[in-house]
Amino acid sequence: MHETRATRPPIRRSRAGGARKQPVCYGDPQASSPTLRAAQRGHRKGQLAEAAALYRAVLDQDPTCLDARVNLGSLHARAGAASAARALFVEVLASVTDPRALRDVAFGLLHIGALPQARTAFERALEGNASLIGARLGLARLCGELGDHEAAVHHARRAVHDAPEEASAHLELHRALFDDRALDPCIEAAARAVSLDPGYALARYLLAGALARSGCVDEARQALGSEGLIEAGLVDALWYALRPGLRCFSTKRATLLFALELAPSQGPVIDLGVRHGVSTRLLAEASGAEVHGFDSFQGLPESWQSRPAGAFSTAGELPPVPPSVRLYPGLFAETLPPFAATLREPPRLIHVDCDLYSSAAEAFSCLGPLVRPGCVIVLDEYIGNASFREDEHRALHEAAARLGWRIDERCLNWITGQGVVLVG
Ligand SMILES: C[S@@+](CC[C@H](N)C(=O)[O-])C[C@H]1O[C@@H](n2cnc3c(N)ncnc32)[C@H](O)[C@@H]1O
Repeated sequence: MHETRATRPPIRRSRAGGARKQPVCYGDPQASSPTLRAAQRGHRKGQLAEAAALYRAVLDQDPTCLDARVNLGSLHARAGAASAARALFVEVLASVTDPRALRDVAFGLLHIGALPQARTAFERALEGNASLIGARLGLARLCGELGDHEAAVHHARRAVHDAPEEASAHLELHRALFDDRALDPCIEAAARAVSLDPGYALARYLLAGALARSGCVDEARQALGSEGLIEAGLVDALWYALRPGLRCFSTKRATLLFALELAPSQGPVIDLGVRHGVSTRLLAEASGAEVHGFDSFQGLPESWQSRPAGAFSTAGELPPVPPSVRLYPGLFAETLPPFAATLREPPRLIHVDCDLYSSAAEAFSCLGPLVRPGCVIVLDEYIGNASFREDEHRALHEAAARLGWRIDERCLNWITGQGVVLVG
């Protein structure tokens, strides 16, 4: 999502965009019905179940009420109820031309992993109002994640053109232009973001990464700014990532494609953490392999970082996946042992995206004995946060020590936090 100076957190690199937390109101609030106003009041106060019931009551009376459709869709999306959210958003997309509503629907669709539909919604929002900068930045990021590099650069450049004083537009251009083998253009864009907003920690972090990778280590140290602006653990992650010869990409998609290319051409792919199915569908479509996706679909079993237990829940709903994917709903401790007992071929690639040390450790304890040299492991949060050494990273290195693996790190992605390792 477009970050404003007032709300921008110190470092927030992943999962751009999301369903709105505050209710929207597109029309004249005085002209709206008392029930709709009560729903929006409850929504604003965080009384989400009551607000949802009131939005439903509004829609029973007037199924075309735009405020109620978008707000109820966002509430469903935030609760993980993807199909209910998708149904409302797709209806709005088919029938509405209000650019702000289309922008909000785009972020809602992004939140539930409906990436192609989110792209359509952003594009339609911008057709109606080309100066919606949040939609432009959201679209630039999304095009990158969809692998449309040209469109990502086009929209990021357009954002810079339309909002030349907005640091986040320049940082989006940095991401779109990022190429770890030709860093000058993206360094220029990140440096501009920092000069416009010297307190923008993420811009400083990404600038430092690109500078250090291009050999300008002193400038990189300077770019990190005064001590404490960026958490020490993240600075540690950056220097950890900056060993020579390793790749870095600016999207999760590019990292996963790199990993698939490195992996053997035989054997299943295992996705640990499916949620709305973004990584699972990508792995299936790009590999042509059988993909096994594991998730409780109830969210994180424990709190992690600032997220409570249950974060990322889809309330038990399974996402749409192609026929080459098999999903195993349940905790890893319940679903992985019977799977491991019947697996006939060693996995070619394991994608670990369950955030918690305990979940990753459980996964390696079940699947580790099946791993053979040549297997590629991608860890979504390998260097992704200030306590990275205590999470997925720790689980991998403990498993390697136990099972005698040699860990060959091939991609350490300071932009997305991912790591790709080849097991030797
Ligand atoms: C960040 S989400 C995965 C995102 C997904 N890979 C994507 O591309 O959007 C993390 C997921 O891990 C799941 N998870 C974490 N620990 C688990 C465990 N021990 N058993 C089952 N699922 C778990 C959560 O339910 C959550 O859906």
